[in-house]
Amino acid sequence: MKDLKKLLSEMTIDEKVAQLMQLGGEFYQAAHAEITGPIKDMGISVAAVANSGSVLGVTGAEEVIRIQKEYLTKNRLGIPLLFMADVVHGYQTIFPIPLAIGCSWDLDLAEKSAAVAAKEAAVAGTHVTFAPMVDLVRDPRWGRVLETTGEDAYLNSEFAKAFVRGFQGNDLTNNLNKVAACVKHFAAYGAPEGGRDYNTVDMSERRLREEYLPAYKAALDVGCEMVMTSFNLVDGVPATSNKWLMRDVLRKEMDFNGVLISDWGAVKEAIVHGTAVDERDAAYQAIHAGLDIEMMTPCYINSLKDLINDGKVDVKLLDEAVLRILELKNKLGLFENPYRGASEEEENNVILSDAHRQAALEVAEGSIVLLKNEENTLPLDINQTVALKGPFADEGSILGAWSWKGKAKDSVTLMDAFKNKGAILEETSEIVVLALGEPACWSGEASCRADIKLPLKQLELLAEVKSQRKKVVVVLFNGRPLDLHGVLDVADAVVEAWYPGTEGGNAVANILFGDVNPSGKLAMTFPYSVGQIPVYYNHLNTGRPNVLDAPNAYVSKYLDIPNEPLIPFGFGLSYTTFEYEDLQLSSPEITSSEILTVSVKVTNTGSRTGKEVVQLYIRDLVAEVSRPLKELKGHELVLLKAGESKIVTFELSEADLRYHHRDLSFTSDLGVFEVYIGGSSVDVLKGKFVLQ
Ligand code: BGC
Repeated sequence: MKDLKKLLSEMTIDEKVAQLMQLGGEFYQAAHAEITGPIKDMGISVAAVANSGSVLGVTGAEEVIRIQKEYLTKNRLGIPLLFMADVVHGYQTIFPIPLAIGCSWDLDLAEKSAAVAAKEAAVAGTHVTFAPMVDLVRDPRWGRVLETTGEDAYLNSEFAKAFVRGFQGNDLTNNLNKVAACVKHFAAYGAPEGGRDYNTVDMSERRLREEYLPAYKAALDVGCEMVMTSFNLVDGVPATSNKWLMRDVLRKEMDFNGVLISDWGAVKEAIVHGTAVDERDAAYQAIHAGLDIEMMTPCYINSLKDLINDGKVDVKLLDEAVLRILELKNKLGLFENPYRGASEEEENNVILSDAHRQAALEVAEGSIVLLKNEENTLPLDINQTVALKGPFADEGSILGAWSWKGKAKDSVTLMDAFKNKGAILEETSEIVVLALGEPACWSGEASCRADIKLPLKQLELLAEVKSQRKKVVVVLFNGRPLDLHGVLDVADAVVEAWYPGTEGGNAVANILFGDVNPSGKLAMTFPYSVGQIPVYYNHLNTGRPNVLDAPNAYVSKYLDIPNEPLIPFGFGLSYTTFEYEDLQLSSPEITSSEILTVSVKVTNTGSRTGKEVVQLYIRDLVAEVSRPLKELKGHELVLLKAGESKIVTFELSEADLRYHHRDLSFTSDLGVFEVYIGGSSVDVLKGKFVLQ
């Protein structure tokens, strides 16, 4: 390992500042030959590029090795470049979108998906992935809901840990199949007003701490190496230059000592937000806020040296930032082996290998949610004819937005899978599988929608097929919870496949024909209509809740739609049925040092083996601050054979009952709590206990 203090002492200010600059591959591809194009546009020098600390979005062993080699011939002190890229749900073997993985509620699958992604990315030369994205979301208009695991702080936190473990493993230095993770987007990027990307975020500090911060913290708790800032304001100040958020909350409270990188261009955007005068001011604010790497804008590179020379910025701030970056390079073993895992031979061996495809298949199968299954329309009988129609019937673009290395030609379409399975395809069949959805570019970054229905043409197609008195199974390929009016009420069965990735077709076909029993449960509420948004399961009661069996005009309700969502959080059907009974609490009361055991008997009352996601929620009935009607506190996956029962047990302690009080202290209140266990957020058994 390199002696970094010594190295730092040998660096010039210019070399140090350049470590803080992150550029795209185009800067290196030009081999620093001429000052043209992007280099000129940014007003930076060739020397700065030759000393820059990291590069964004370049992957592929051959290219990475070439750039690193050439870079090192010019870098005076031989400090290797860090290669960073967005490997979010797979590198080339693409896994389902994170929102789908969230619906699996299966942390092992999530970890496995990240481990495969890390392995493919690592052999392709990536050192850091800009993932996991753990922003909590409540607005399906926002195109980026597909990148998160949904609307719940507990579930997001559990997934954040699983993804980080999968990407990083526990020996980043020696395990060349791992990459450093960068949790994003800190903070609260998932709450833009109106569901419009990059829009204003504003919320109480209590809400920020309670709902939005925990998942980032969870990622850090398991050692996530990096954090990325968000584009949005946090309490009126851009996150990227928000000293309170970055220094006080992230660095001090959360004890984060790793590398903090801005999102793309976010340092400079302070000018557009109207909180910085110019690039120099933006750089001044960001370095004081504790930001280490500036992605894709030149505020640091063009101003930091002057700011230091003018006595406006203490050189200590620069040294700290540089040291953090060098430490990461050291941890990744780059000083000894600047190419790390990059290997063309290994690329050929591991990328899209059978084992990786198998993992992608398994994760996709676990992520699919059965939303409706009238009269046991599903599973289909492989010996009966079936028609397969709709725009996604033979579509390979089912990979989702962050799959830039994934190729549609490598993915298994539904049609491929039907044929491989030996399905008897017949246009005139009485059973029609309609593969519908949103074109891939309708969700993802900067891809927000105000109307979250399927395209009208698809709804018309469904209505027409149904009018021919056929049994219709709709399979949905999409990146967000949709308004499913015109689908859920029309089709006989509805399967939410999301963007299921490279093995998507196989996974869906295995579900449709019953080789796999669906077990996914929604990690994000499906609204009744856009007018209801934000709608989420863990809302507050209000002073005038709409009590359904006691109608009253002056309550919190709409005149034209119900308050309830179309499909609630935690919901998902199976080809078998599960019964919950005998909710038992180990005691009617606990003290703050005792553990409460809550158990329930779950029985598979159907005729085939199935996996159930058992969910545990609580409610604090009377508290200093009004508490949600339900809060998810635990979950467990149980596999039950037909007729089999299992007692599922959870433990609750005082720590699970804490929340942020008026003074923001994180403590619990004595008193009565309700506890619920069930197979969705609305279908639960209820118990009560007292914290005393
Ligand atoms: C996105 C980030 C991403 C970055 C680098 C930005 O536009 O918001 O999520 O990591 O680009 O590609």
